[in-house]
Amino acid sequence: MGSFTDTVAAVTGSGSGIGRTTAIEFADRGASVLVTDVDVDGGEETVAQIEDAGGEARFLEVDVTDPDATQEMVDVAVEAYGRLDYAFNNAGIGGAQTPVTEYDSDDWRSVIDVNLVGVFNCMKPEIAQMQTQDGGGVVVNNSSILGQVGFEASSGYVAAKHGVLGLTKTAALENGETGVRVNAVCPGFIETPLLESGGITSDPEMRKQIEGLHAMNRLGTPQEVADAVCWLCDDEASFVTGEALGVEGGYLSR
Ligand SMILES: NC(=O)c1ccc[n+]([C@@H]2O[C@H](COP(=O)([O-])OP(=O)(O)OC[C@H]3O[C@@H](n4cnc5c(N)ncnc54)[C@H](O)[C@@H]3O)[C@@H](O)[C@H]2O)c1
Repeated sequence: MGSFTDTVAAVTGSGSGIGRTTAIEFADRGASVLVTDVDVDGGEETVAQIEDAGGEARFLEVDVTDPDATQEMVDVAVEAYGRLDYAFNNAGIGGAQTPVTEYDSDDWRSVIDVNLVGVFNCMKPEIAQMQTQDGGGVVVNNSSILGQVGFEASSGYVAAKHGVLGLTKTAALENGETGVRVNAVCPGFIETPLLESGGITSDPEMRKQIEGLHAMNRLGTPQEVADAVCWLCDDEASFVTGEALGVEGGYLSR
């Protein structure tokens, strides 16, 4: 496991779930972490957990749908810590669970706005900053297994997550020689509040059914995703860019 001493990481949507666990993992490995979220209480709780463990973090309220806010996120990281080495663009919502024919157009747009436009809004200032600094940097976007295959009644989410992979590959090509690597993780179903709000973990029958879609017949943990994100950021992954790394217990092997 690589050390991130004297490095700086920013994680969107880190007031909960995968984002919180990844922010804590970055800090445990020695990075200073900018925790951002629309959920102020959740974000401050993440910072408190990092500080209690002896790490360095600060919180900034950032709505990823607002390009001024994502620019401010990068500016604050640089003002506070001098640079931005790693960015995990993780903030996301589940959206409606309804077929295409019944999906409200405004709801559809709002899932695309957070889960796809939000990632673009983050990447733009992050990569611009990383291109200017010695040593470049690494961007990791949170896509999903549903960035690679369809899933009934989730068209907004699935379309956004497929889009995140296209965006990841394109930015990787643009940055092949700039010192900035750009990758994505594609988690399977991970036990977080997002699944609870979608009724998956609260309904035992549905949980069993979803678990069975993975070869390992279980849900993943936020820690398993955090470890993959940190590996992609580490120098051990120095020849890895444009990759969509599955963390999915064999879901896509069927
Ligand atoms: N849980 C899963 O099964 C799973 C699987 C694959 C991918 N993912 C992806 O992982 C990411 C994190 O999901 P999670 O399961 O940890 O969910 P979560 O609900 O626990 O956390 C998501 C966080 O994003 C924040 N957020 C929502 N809208 C935002 C916005 N506009 N700006 C900034 N922050 C915002 C929320 O406040 C929350 O803190 C999402 O992109 C999700 O699509 C999750």
